[in-house]
Amino acid sequence: MSSKDIREKYIKFFVSRGHKQIPAAKLVPENDPTTLFTSSGMQPLVPYLLGQKHPEGKRLVDCQPSFRAEDIEEVGDNRHTTFFEMLGNWSLGDYFKVEQLPWIWEFFTKELSLDKDKLYVSVFEGNNEVPKDEESLEIWRSLGVDDDHIFFYGVDKNWWSCSGSPNNMPAGEIGGPDSEVFYEFTQIEHDKIYGDKCHPNCECGRFLEIGNSVFIEYQKQQDGSLKELPQKNVDFGGGLERLTAAVSNTHDIFQTVLYKPITDAIAQAIGLKYEGDNTSSMRIIADHLKAATFLILDGVPPSNKLQGYVLRRLIRRSTIKMRQLSGKLIRRKALLISDEFTPIIQAILTIYGKQTNIVEKVIGEEIGRFAKTLDHGLKEIEKIENIDGKKAFDLYQTFGFPYEITEELFRQKGQKVNKEQFKAEFEKHKTLSRTASAGMFKGGLADHGEIVTKFHTATHLLHQALRDVLGPQVFQKGSNITSERLRFDFSFERKITEEEIKQVEDIMNKRITEGLKVDHMTLDLQKAKEMNAIGLFHEKYASKVSIYGVGPNFQLDPQAKDKRERDGYYSLEFCGGPHVDNTSIIGKVKIIKEEAVSSGIRRIRVKRAS
Ligand code: ALA
Repeated sequence: MSSKDIREKYIKFFVSRGHKQIPAAKLVPENDPTTLFTSSGMQPLVPYLLGQKHPEGKRLVDCQPSFRAEDIEEVGDNRHTTFFEMLGNWSLGDYFKVEQLPWIWEFFTKELSLDKDKLYVSVFEGNNEVPKDEESLEIWRSLGVDDDHIFFYGVDKNWWSCSGSPNNMPAGEIGGPDSEVFYEFTQIEHDKIYGDKCHPNCECGRFLEIGNSVFIEYQKQQDGSLKELPQKNVDFGGGLERLTAAVSNTHDIFQTVLYKPITDAIAQAIGLKYEGDNTSSMRIIADHLKAATFLILDGVPPSNKLQGYVLRRLIRRSTIKMRQLSGKLIRRKALLISDEFTPIIQAILTIYGKQTNIVEKVIGEEIGRFAKTLDHGLKEIEKIENIDGKKAFDLYQTFGFPYEITEELFRQKGQKVNKEQFKAEFEKHKTLSRTASAGMFKGGLADHGEIVTKFHTATHLLHQALRDVLGPQVFQKGSNITSERLRFDFSFERKITEEEIKQVEDIMNKRITEGLKVDHMTLDLQKAKEMNAIGLFHEKYASKVSIYGVGPNFQLDPQAKDKRERDGYYSLEFCGGPHVDNTSIIGKVKIIKEEAVSSGIRRIRVKRAS
């Protein structure tokens, strides 16, 4: 059974149980400043898990490409990856445990023919706030799961929210207890280094978590308590890569069809086998280049900030690993030849049936830039007389120098580096970057929902105002909102003049002071198109769509360049919200910057005027 079969079977299974398939979201979320990446299928669905009506109904299914930056340091074992495809099904206040657990069991044992004896489940053991999940226990038993295949764990293992266990959840976040299914690779001997007894959550590699049914029924409150949500939801996620491993009984996911062509290409490029000490580095290269490929395909350029920085780290880390494996890293001027990457990138694209040379181009250019930095770094190292653990960490951070390389270079100079100090710095940084990427601006911004919502509506006004001033060739290409500003990318060939910027800003502020009403409707895709609603990625929309209109019965300014025929709206856009009810709530805005992003794409930043 191929991974494509697994993906299709899953969707079909849930569609035949009343679910609507929804299109996958982009890896970089639109209008969500709380996080850098889409890291699970539920992320774009939060408003609906909270009670907003979803245009496709209460049962949804999809396959969501996901990226978890916080797992970068975990990659290297048999199962962790930063990029993966998550098969997901949701009940938005509809069915609950009694349907979900038997369905997922049926899918695993009947559709995927996984051996029941190799499946184990885990259930929430309860704490002083949330009771033990007796209901799931009884359901598993009724499905024929023996008691010795059912394990209980606490909040650290059987609780799910975007931020982890309840203690880490900021006010407003939703989550709940979960029940996971594990596959046992009986061919793998338990390694006592991980504890006396093996169990589903043991780290030895004998067990692999293949699915997680989260019962999203709680919301964290300002006072730190958990409150039951008005509706009980199911959020299931299963990694396609892991399911592929279980179905083929291959305990190393990097040896399944979704990775083997990549690790083979890496082995070929550096003339080493995928075995022994090499495996960990080859897994890192395979994972990072695959993740980099998908980020590039979703339009992320390498840079020093946000998503671009993460992409840069992925590419540079794989470059270092490639050099390290082939023994060329510590030779000065051992140029990093991007050609070596070409067959690896080709292998990745072939797995997913994609044909493009953009990935190769972006990665090639980044490696070229890195070659210069690296050469510079090597010169720096040669100058340093005494290197302590902190300096070694700085080199790791700035130039991507792995600790071993720094150590090796100084051994050559007769110096010894303090590894403990390096580790301490490393841990400190890891905690920081975990917090940063898991919930970017989350903590402490109690009012962020409000500011983001205002800026979000301002984005629609900006989009339309740009079209009014510059013409209908303007289309949104992306946006990003923080509590400080909104950033908006759009298609346009030339620099916008100061006069045009002023016109756009004036239109926005006029629409704001006019106090236009903001409307929401759910309708057929065809109808929305007929109404000339504008949107981002038409091909990705489902059959029923959600659109927002600003200014019903709006009288078109006779001087406006764009002679659009709308049903009396100033702006009409495909959008999932949220938005303010009336534009006057936004308050006056100011365009603070206009610049080029790439050829044919401009970027505008808007702040609040006062
Ligand atoms: N949202 C759940 C997870 O990511 C299903 O594991």
